[in-house]
Amino acid sequence: MKRIAVYPGSFDPLTFGHIDLIERTVGMFDELIVAIAHNIKKAGLFPVPERAEMIREMVKGYDNVSVDAFDGLLVDYVRKKGATCVVRGLRAFSDFEYEFQMALTNRKLNDSYETIFLMTHENYSFISSSLVKELIEFGGDISAFVPESVERRLKEKFYTKPG
Ligand code: COA
Repeated sequence: MKRIAVYPGSFDPLTFGHIDLIERTVGMFDELIVAIAHNIKKAGLFPVPERAEMIREMVKGYDNVSVDAFDGLLVDYVRKKGATCVVRGLRAFSDFEYEFQMALTNRKLNDSYETIFLMTHENYSFISSSLVKELIEFGGDISAFVPESVERRLKEKFYTKPG
């Protein structure tokens, strides 16, 4: 049986923290699907196709990693893809409660897969997509947190005046 894992998230935008997680997970499974989800609590900056493009640029060297997007519940998406695992990163203690609640709720709805958690690399344990967006908005240096291509797109978003 093919071991398929789903790595869901908002990825708005992708950071080095996400990339680290992908790189550490990829060898554990036959196929890894990086799945962009709509988090209804978050107003997105980048449209989903652009988020996907940024991720694809970074994972193109892996032939067992694909990038996808989904609407609706994660449990339904996981079932549809025939995945046996969902991968999530834990950055700090504060992530635990949220992740615990989400994983247990999802397990109630679909117990045919496991959620596994990887500790985020210590270099990235304090960053988040929102923090990166805030830094760039006020002219901060984000080169330590996101790949060049993401930085470029963020600068276009924040510094290019319309018209
Ligand atoms: N390194 C650095 N930062 C990381 C990271 C890592 N390894 N992993 C996550 N982050 C950051 C992200 O950048 C993000 O930052 P932000 O809050 O500033 O945007 C934050 O941690 C949260 O991570 P993310 O992985 O994007 O999760 P999320 O909370 O936005 O989304 C979903 C969680 C998409 C998995 C969840 O909302 C979902 O499953 N949605 C589908 C609908 C559903 O099934 N709902 C029921 C759930 S019980």
